[in-house]
Amino acid sequence: MRPSRASLALLLVAAAPASGMAAAPPGASSCSGCHPPAGVRNAPVPALNGRPAGEIVSSMKAFQEGTKPATVMDRIAKGFSDEEIAAIAAWLSRTP
Ligand code: HEC
Repeated sequence: MRPSRASLALLLVAAAPASGMAAAPPGASSCSGCHPPAGVRNAPVPALNGRPAGEIVSSMKAFQEGTKPATVMDRIAKGFSDEEIAAIAAWLSRTP
């Protein structure tokens, strides 16, 4: 039996993430391997979640250009395009 168009549409709606809970863009989940959740203070690695997107973008640019001192972030930042960084920064800024 072929599923009707209506039941296909319902499946698509059910599979979509709830509004306000956008899925993490590519690469964003790797950041939490080192960076703690928002509100964690004095951790060896600073928290990113909830920080303004512009701040994250300018730090990533500075890491890429070598103008911000880094142990690992210079190499990590170079692996991302401007578009990817913008998407990750926007997502981190609204993720608790
Ligand atoms: C391997 C561990 C690791 C991963 C994975 C990682 N970071 Fe970092 N991040 C660090 C460390 C350590 C620092 C401190 C600077 C340094 O030593 O490179 C840092 C610093 C930063 C800073 C500057 C924060 C500040 O307050 O100055 C930003 C922004 C940042 N990381 C973004 C990201 C993003 C975005 C990702 C995911 C794409 C990511 N990091 C993944 C370890 C990591």
